Amino acid sequence: MTILRTNFPPLQPFYLKLITAIKVLWWKLFYNITIGRGTIIRELRYISTDSGPIKIGHHCVINALALAGPIEIGNNTLVNLHSDISGRKYKVIIGDNVLIAPHVAIMATIHNYKNRYELIKNQGTDGGDVVIEDDVWIGTNVVILPGTHIEKGAVIGANAVVTNDIPPYAIAVGIPAKVSGYRE
Ligand SMILES: CC(C)(COP(=O)(O)OP(=O)(O)OC[C@H]1O[C@@H](n2cnc3c(N)ncnc32)[C@H](O)[C@@H]1OP(=O)(O)O)[C@@H](O)C(=O)NCCC(=O)NCCS
Repeated sequence: MTILRTNFPPLQPFYLKLITAIKVLWWKLFYNITIGRGTIIRELRYISTDSGPIKIGHHCVINALALAGPIEIGNNTLVNLHSDISGRKYKVIIGDNVLIAPHVAIMATIHNYKNRYELIKNQGTDGGDVVIEDDVWIGTNVVILPGTHIEKGAVIGANAVVTNDIPPYAIAVGIPAKVSGYRE
């Protein structure tokens, strides 16, 4: 289901453009969500800006299942079906031209759990900003843990768990994700 499209085909009637402009303004004013031109949002089942705003750039396609701010997404970025991006206490920053496959989980905040005498749910949370730079491709089922930085042009193989920083143009696979090569 398409929730919002801000792409305006040249022949789109004026009243449809107006409705879209009102929707974008509505999301901005009442939900703290900024959406750029030409962006399409579909399939979203959960969205929260309780912990921070969500900013999505121009010409993105967001088919994600869940988004929880603070999140910043650049331009021309694709987030595929059933993916879950969650900032909460920290921020998720995603660059331009990033491809995120289906079933990817990106989280900037996790539960503290070390004290066995306290319920995990009562131990609070910790984490760190997640940064995914331009032209990164993230394979299906990847999990990206808090505080990680995936640098420009890197590729993360399907099913990897990213626990450390990934250098520019690296191809990283496995659990934990390790560099197996570099793009030529
Ligand atoms: C990582 C990937 C891009 C391939 O990279 P590559 O460098 O061309 O990989 P190769 O096929 O040459 O394999 C290199 C090595 O990594 C291993 N490998 C490749 N992909 C792997 C993965 N996802 N997890 C673990 N190991 C993997 C290979 O088995 C091989 O190991 P070996 O050297 O011991 O034989 C690809 O395997 C992948 O995971 N693509 C994501 C596909 C996807 O999720 N698409 C979703 C739609 S957008």
